Amino acid sequence: MRDYEPILLRNVGVPEARTLKGYEARGGYRGIRKALGSSPEQIVEEVKKANLRGRGGAGFPAGLKWSFLPKDRTITYLCVNADESEPPTFSNRLLMENDPHQVLEGAMIAAYATRAQVAYIYMRVEFHEQFHVLQRAVDEAYAAGYLGRRLFGHDFDLQVYIHRGAGAYVCGEETGLIESIEGKRGWPRIKPPFPALEGLFRRPTVVNNVETLANLPHLIERGAAWFTSIGPPHSTGPKLFCISGPVRRPGCYEGPMTITVRDLIERPEFGGGMLPGKRVKMVLPGGVSVGVLTANELDMKMDFADPAKYGLLGLGTAAAVVVDTDTDIRLVLRNLARFYALESCGQCTQCREGTSWMYKIAARIAAGAGRRADLDILEQTARNMGMMPGLSICGLPDGATYPIETLVRKFRSELEELIGQQEPARRDAVLQTVN
Ligand SMILES: Cc1cc2nc3c(=O)[nH]c(=O)nc-3n(C[C@H](O)[C@H](O)[C@H](O)COP(=O)(O)O)c2cc1C
Ligand code: SF4
Repeated sequence: MRDYEPILLRNVGVPEARTLKGYEARGGYRGIRKALGSSPEQIVEEVKKANLRGRGGAGFPAGLKWSFLPKDRTITYLCVNADESEPPTFSNRLLMENDPHQVLEGAMIAAYATRAQVAYIYMRVEFHEQFHVLQRAVDEAYAAGYLGRRLFGHDFDLQVYIHRGAGAYVCGEETGLIESIEGKRGWPRIKPPFPALEGLFRRPTVVNNVETLANLPHLIERGAAWFTSIGPPHSTGPKLFCISGPVRRPGCYEGPMTITVRDLIERPEFGGGMLPGKRVKMVLPGGVSVGVLTANELDMKMDFADPAKYGLLGLGTAAAVVVDTDTDIRLVLRNLARFYALESCGQCTQCREGTSWMYKIAARIAAGAGRRADLDILEQTARNMGMMPGLSICGLPDGATYPIETLVRKFRSELEELIGQQEPARRDAVLQTVN
């Protein structure tokens, strides 16, 4: 995408853009000023027309979500999901540390559109630098009268607080996040009621991801027609993609959702190709939770529609991890299973027990003590967990099962060949983690 002009990342590498003055000098805070000239309902309609879909993983249309808020509400909260807990994902972090006012401006527009009077930015505790950068931006905005009472002289008040979580994957789930802000253990809530009706402090609440919100200043300033001119109709607007693994240029890049996984790995402006001597074995294209692709499936488009055709859960966080042919696939399986077993909050039996079983089986296979029947058990367990079969409170087990089920199904013959073979160098470490 050599002719693609970065929009969301335009201020990366411009240190002065972190300050309010520098951000405004580069065109910042024009979107909120324009938004305040329209009614909140008009902003919701514009966002619906643009078909801005959530960037946090589920791809839910932002304008539609906002329209679920009850009409007769008196108090509304906005929660900015800055938890970014999906393992290979670092696009929210990049936005917050390089362009904090862009994130704030997006939050202001969302708050105005939803008539939220208070916004909480929920951030994982590991984001030290990002917290300080964003807090400085919040302080500057208050000092300039851009936050607090009567924003920009309009009849609109907004208080913004940054709330730091203690660092748990499940706190990125919107109701786990809400519980955590309320000062409780970050356990996801049974839905319904959905946050739009009963969210933070049991009041109508909207939860949106940092990248979703960062799109708003541009969408409002340039309009829905401009926004929909980028990418296909089901996947509009600018998008951030992360890439990690043995590629020449791991990092976070921006483009339209017309690019393929192959583009992300190979094009010089993205991953720049594999490192010398390395070949692709597998790609996890959307964080770890959507499933895996084989080296023959790299033409999948990084959009909201194509992943399903490859048996994946969705686009996820659009953060691709490339696994090379030198990697023992049993270790990939074990690491994936381990992550979810550790992060399950334990409220739902099939999630708590199922993720642990899957980890124990995967660890056994990795240690060279697996059996062929283990692969069937893994597949069966994966089919019997999650929100999609209606068995869990939140989507963590769906995210746990897609990578395991797709890996076992797509790499079954390789796993069958390896089963029973020892992996001497790591055997002791593996057994230690099982016990
Ligand atoms: C286990 C789990 C972890 C999640 N972690 C995050 C996260 O770190 N950041 C995020 O924005 N959304 C995360 N989500 C999705 C949120 O529940 C929610 O859909 C999202 O914040 C809505 O924002 P969006 O509509 O702007 O994408 C997670 C979901 C689940 C099930
Ligand atoms: S599905 Fe898993 S992570 Fe989600 S609430 Fe239930 S036990 Fe917790």
